[in-house]
Amino acid sequence: MVWKYGNPVQIEFGVDSFAKLAELIGNRRYALVTYGEPFFDALASRLKNTAGAPALVISDVAPNPDYRLLAEQTGRFAELARQPEVIVALGGGSVIDSAKVFAAAGGDFGKIKTFLESQKGAEQLSAIPIIAVPTTAGTGSEVTCWGTVWDEANGKKYSLARPNLYPTHAVVDPRLMLGKPLLLTISTGLDALSHALESLWNVNNNPVSANHAVFAARGVLDVLPKLVKDLGNIELRERMAMAALFAGLAFSNTKTAIAHSLSYPITLRHGVQHGIACSFSLPMVLRSVHGVGGICEDSLKQIFGSDLARGADDLEDFLGLLGISSNPAAYKIDRREWRLLIEDSLQGERGRNFLGSGDRLIEASQIVRLPRARIA
Ligand SMILES: NC(=O)c1ccc[n+]([C@@H]2O[C@H](COP(=O)([O-])OP(=O)(O)OC[C@H]3O[C@@H](n4cnc5c(N)ncnc54)[C@H](O)[C@@H]3O)[C@@H](O)[C@H]2O)c1
Ligand SMILES: [Fe+2]
Repeated sequence: MVWKYGNPVQIEFGVDSFAKLAELIGNRRYALVTYGEPFFDALASRLKNTAGAPALVISDVAPNPDYRLLAEQTGRFAELARQPEVIVALGGGSVIDSAKVFAAAGGDFGKIKTFLESQKGAEQLSAIPIIAVPTTAGTGSEVTCWGTVWDEANGKKYSLARPNLYPTHAVVDPRLMLGKPLLLTISTGLDALSHALESLWNVNNNPVSANHAVFAARGVLDVLPKLVKDLGNIELRERMAMAALFAGLAFSNTKTAIAHSLSYPITLRHGVQHGIACSFSLPMVLRSVHGVGGICEDSLKQIFGSDLARGADDLEDFLGLLGISSNPAAYKIDRREWRLLIEDSLQGERGRNFLGSGDRLIEASQIVRLPRARIA
């Protein structure tokens, strides 16, 4: 077997690790990217007290970073006399992905647009170092070198992927996740589960990514049902943060696969949150991959037991108990659209990472089963 694995991000993990941020910034000129909400304002003030005032604060990051706002925000970097020496991204995937755009744009969003739309001009892109401080325990963006960029007006989604966009550091402090509301906890937790499983049914899987993925998936399956009943439990938040981080480490080397490929048009057309859009199809994908063998099947059996068909039913019930339906109709996707979506997604860049068979996936998409139990 021939394989390789690498991840350059220095990870600082633990309750109250936020306190290490000032030291990591050092005496560098920094820009802070975050949301405009009181909790994040308070964190920004704490940081200012220890690391000094930032050269620029971008505090209006909105969910799913979009061309229009990103272009405007990038313009604020252009107005600075000197570019920051480091960008601190304090927030979830939308914040960290926005920071990657600013790091690569160097004040000129046109360069990003050209690169995303033509894959040309990589040498024109900058690479301001990023320190990522994730607050959602979901996307894993703190340990990946890509960011999702949305162009809602034209119904498109791009991935800004450059090896020099790995954050230099990830500061993962579970205390920052304590205030996450229920739905955000569920959707981001399921995003992490999706990253773990997607890295397994993936042509790029390898023994290290698989090991991380098994740890991550087991963690989410065990912790999330407990966490939704006890949102303020720091130990459970810590375990979810670990699971999401390990899922990130897993898919940082494989990228995602078919469930994510399916999710993007569902988010764009039907407004379904990313974590839900990329996870409600997981039972269907799992049903389609039993028998593929290799690292994928071995690892899935470590997570779901030796009977993967039963494991797929269990996964559907797990989602049902969190109030998430695996039926596309619940998201206003009719049978015809679903079939076309699957066919299109198999051809997409992420879809081509899927190591299962397209025919078996389509077969599995026709299985309709009522979950055994439901809450909410
Ligand atoms: N780069 C990657 O590898 C990668 C992977 C998966 C998803 N994504 C992208 O990430 C984005 C989604 O990111 P996300 O799911 O982390 O959410 P998000 O960053 O979009 O945040 C959603 C909301 O959560 C709130 N929030 C965040 N942290 C909070 C906290 N600790 N307490 C209370 N509220 C909090 C914010 O106010 C925000 O309004 C999507 O654009 C998705 O496509 C990127
Ligand atoms: Fe995701």
